[in-house]
Amino acid sequence: MLHKPGLIQRTFTKFSGDILSDTARITFIGAGNMASCIIGGLINNGYPAACLSASARSNTNLTPLAEELGIATSTDNSAFVQNSDVVILAVKPQNLQSVCEEIRTEFTSRSPLFISIAAGVACDSICSWLQQDVALVRCMPNTPAKVLAGASGLYANDKVDSTQKQLAQSILAAVGSVSWVEEEGMIDSVTAIAGSGPAYFFLFIEAMIDAGVAQGFDRATAETLAIQTAFGASKLAKESLQNGIDVVELRRRVTSPKGTTEQAILSFEHNNLRSTVQQAMDACRDRAQELAKLMAETKA
Ligand SMILES: NC(=O)c1ccc[n+]([C@@H]2O[C@H](COP(=O)([O-])OP(=O)(O)OC[C@H]3O[C@@H](n4cnc5c(N)ncnc54)[C@H](OP(=O)(O)O)[C@@H]3O)[C@@H](O)[C@H]2O)c1
Repeated sequence: MLHKPGLIQRTFTKFSGDILSDTARITFIGAGNMASCIIGGLINNGYPAACLSASARSNTNLTPLAEELGIATSTDNSAFVQNSDVVILAVKPQNLQSVCEEIRTEFTSRSPLFISIAAGVACDSICSWLQQDVALVRCMPNTPAKVLAGASGLYANDKVDSTQKQLAQSILAAVGSVSWVEEEGMIDSVTAIAGSGPAYFFLFIEAMIDAGVAQGFDRATAETLAIQTAFGASKLAKESLQNGIDVVELRRRVTSPKGTTEQAILSFEHNNLRSTVQQAMDACRDRAQELAKLMAETKA
């Protein structure tokens, strides 16, 4: 699904700086789910389609971007790289090395800012494939970016200057929140909390739907009640935090002593929900580290 311009009215911040003296020209290599979300988010935020371009292996994903959003597209990865201020690497991790090798001769005189959204591929690997220590931001987004409610974690290598950092922040802010990490290794923990996080909530909702059905609801009603409750709780938590009220306080407010909610919470605590979550997130982070090591071993 593409987000058409005009659905959301927000103003995109214009940038100034040595490299980005005007609106930055941004090209995407890879035009699948994530790239389409970010492109749609940028356009919805008022970013000019004329400054955006994308390349991919085939026209399957490029055609809707060209026809519905009016951005320039090509099946040649080198087509836009030379004239771009930002190159967003949005292919699957296993395709990234060949893409880097394909484009590395295109920016001999002036290197753009690279933003990689490929899970588990370290900055060192990308620089090695590009045969240059480029300015590189590593980003771990998540799928709610599709509804402009994503949560991305970003890491910048030491070649990235403050203007480029601000640009990367604004690009990802088009599809949700942005949090920076100081150490590259923490990107694996971003995966554990945000990258994989939506699946944890889907599982929890699924379990609530099944429990609702077991208590006598038809599935559609259980789905409506569980999903709307998750959405409402999340919206309330987000808005309350802006007023200094955290989730602990929100939970306390709905948990009357000897009431119904207290019985459910006691049951969760008795069954070690907190350590279950901790173990699951640790397992996720550890797997992300393992995959990053495997990917690094294929360095050029
Ligand atoms: N989806 C997520 O939830 C999520 C979350 C965090 C991070 N990520 C990361 O985001 C990246 C993209 O994921 P996605 O879900 O958007 O993948 P996707 O939908 O499969 O899209 C991949 C895109 O890469 C293109 N591609 C493949 N090989 C190429 C090549 N050699 N040259 C140019 N383009 C090439 C594909 O071209 P065609 O259009 O011709 O097939 C397609 O447009 C991945 O690295 C993933 O780790 C995804």
